Amino acid sequence: MWGGRFAEGPAAVMREINASIPFDKRLWRQDVAASLAHVAMLGQQGIVTTEDAAAISAGLAAVAADYEANGVAEDMALEDIHMQTEARLAEKIGPVAGRLHTARSRNDQVATDFRLWVRDAIDQVDTALGGFQDALIARAEDHADSVMPGFTHLQSAQPVTLGHHLMAYHEMIARDRDRFASARARGNQCPLGSAALAGTGFPIDRAMTAAALGFDAPTRNSLDAVSDRDFALDYLMAATQCALHLSRLAEEFILWASQPFGFVSLSDQWSTGSSIMPQKRNPDAAELVRGHSGRIAGCMTALVMTMKGLPLAYSKDMQDDKPPVFEAHDLLALSIAAMTGMVASATFRTERMRAAAEAGFSTATDLADWLVREAGLPFREAHHVTGRVVKLAEERGTALDQVPIDALRAIDSRIDDSVYKVLSVDASVASRTSLGGTAPLQVRAAIAEARRRREGEGA
Ligand code: ARG
Repeated sequence: MWGGRFAEGPAAVMREINASIPFDKRLWRQDVAASLAHVAMLGQQGIVTTEDAAAISAGLAAVAADYEANGVAEDMALEDIHMQTEARLAEKIGPVAGRLHTARSRNDQVATDFRLWVRDAIDQVDTALGGFQDALIARAEDHADSVMPGFTHLQSAQPVTLGHHLMAYHEMIARDRDRFASARARGNQCPLGSAALAGTGFPIDRAMTAAALGFDAPTRNSLDAVSDRDFALDYLMAATQCALHLSRLAEEFILWASQPFGFVSLSDQWSTGSSIMPQKRNPDAAELVRGHSGRIAGCMTALVMTMKGLPLAYSKDMQDDKPPVFEAHDLLALSIAAMTGMVASATFRTERMRAAAEAGFSTATDLADWLVREAGLPFREAHHVTGRVVKLAEERGTALDQVPIDALRAIDSRIDDSVYKVLSVDASVASRTSLGGTAPLQVRAAIAEARRRREGEGA
């Protein structure tokens, strides 16, 4: 393809290090689509004849059909998907194939193909995340009233509902989708026509190719268009953040599935056994989601490091942009699917959750609040009195609402019978009615709102 000024071919290792076909063959659909848009424009602008443009279009369709049927061969001599497609085209239609590369370079070609690929990847992730949100919403609705311990420092803090806890992840995923959407919007500009780096003297119509490929507009600066990969980094950063969220839920499932917690039983479909310990049901998928988040962050770091300090415009380092994006995407897609399956099919052991919430003196704050509200104590003093009640309950080995009234009044005579109304875990969660709070009423409102948003998306 570029042999004109060379007397000798490349060394075998040169070929190998130079070739991107083993991985960029994943871009074949985008490569064909961009070439079709380019040749239609060349034809319209009279840069190639209408007959040649038609022959090239038909030839590209035939190449695409071959790729679809047989996959893309990894021919190292042809370096990358762009040269591969052009060579296959030449086999089909002869020397006229050589006209396709008029007013174009592999530099604007790869930038265009890759933007198209990342755009598709974002659309896939968005659909999958929407499905994950649906699973969270459905399970949150099942458990809008199910009491569990809420933790800070992984110590029982205040009772919450499982529905509230699951809807917390729904919110994180909503923001992740927002980050992907903003990455998509920013990246949706067409580099085609930037050529190698400086643009071209041919009378091309960049608006036409941009529109044909579904971009919002052509990019505005040819040097920028062929040399930045921020659109790929935007994707990787959004993917990293999303993977971090999935990883936190995965970690909670791992903890909850352990015997000491016993908050959840994973379905058979989402557990694995041990080859030596017959009693085991291991949460491997959750552990792998937790592990994959590290690899996804590694992919993001890899591209950050590749791009750091590269002078304008294109450098071959940038060929290394694709493997981390492909890898991160595959891992993220698997992770979302796995978490969706686990959430949808898990059995939550609500009696264990309730017992744990009751065991941890998790209504101590409710007692302190009652002392402020009903007995007029300053919060600091109420905190102190409550601390003494907790200490007593601990000594007696009972829950707060099991401490007899005489014992409570011995600590502070301003306490009366009506305090028991706030000491149960149900009363505690029911009282947290502030906007965004854990009261079943508020959780149901959050679920209804989330459903409305999903319906607004046409889901
Ligand atoms: N395979 C190359 C890549 O992925 C395509 C661009 C090659 N451009 C060049 N000037 N050698 O980056």
